[in-house]
Amino acid sequence: MSTWAVLVAAGRGERLGEDRPKAFVRLGGLPLLAEPLRRLDESDWIESVVVVVPPEWEEPAILLAEELGASKVSACVTGGVSRTDSVRAGVAEVADDAAVILVHDAARPILPEAVLARLLAALGEGFDGAIPGLPIVDTVKRVRAGLVQETVSRDELMRVQTPQAFVAPVFRDALTRLSVESTQTATDCAALVEAAGGLIKVVEGDERLLKVTTRADLDRVAGWL
Ligand code: CTP
Ligand code: MG
Repeated sequence: MSTWAVLVAAGRGERLGEDRPKAFVRLGGLPLLAEPLRRLDESDWIESVVVVVPPEWEEPAILLAEELGASKVSACVTGGVSRTDSVRAGVAEVADDAAVILVHDAARPILPEAVLARLLAALGEGFDGAIPGLPIVDTVKRVRAGLVQETVSRDELMRVQTPQAFVAPVFRDALTRLSVESTQTATDCAALVEAAGGLIKVVEGDERLLKVTTRADLDRVAGWL
């Protein structure tokens, strides 16, 4: 199974509030992007990597890939306004004969190899997609204007992460069939495949796949390098 990774790094990092996009903020002496890029490049599960970056950051991304010796990087392309736009731009660079497309947030720099193994094993079982998920430990309430409306049972709720892996033709089909407008608010790729009727398996996630949103997250992830 040839698996292509699309590493989305085209967000602006507004909540981190640095002078540059989040993927290029320093983490352990290198741009944050270096860590997930190196991990994907070194993984035996991955054949090629497409990196999606903000406008004018293509050149630094290419230089970084060269500096890391990341030989699986086949393209560095410009992302779009929404995450889905960036995913589309990356998927457009994936080879036609790819069997699996795996989409990963650069904002989750620590990518354990075991998660990749679990995702691809699930696709081998015949699911259209596989995503990492973890249980919710806190009590969950529906709140409107600061007032509790109800306590929601968390039994069937999970928080999901990336990487997310999909059977390539199924994922491409979802991206083509759904209108661009209907995909703008999606915060993950599985939502697109769900909307197109695909069957998604949840495998065990990993706390280290924490998404860097704030400075505190960046410090936490730095401690796991
Ligand atoms: N992303 C992207 N293109 C966008 C928006 C997001 O490639 N137009 C990517 C980000 O680079 C990140 C992942 O999607 O790796 C998750 O997005 P998020 O954590 O929200 O990152 P940012 O959008 O950069 O951060 P913020 O929302 O604080 O601006
Ligand atoms: Mg964002």
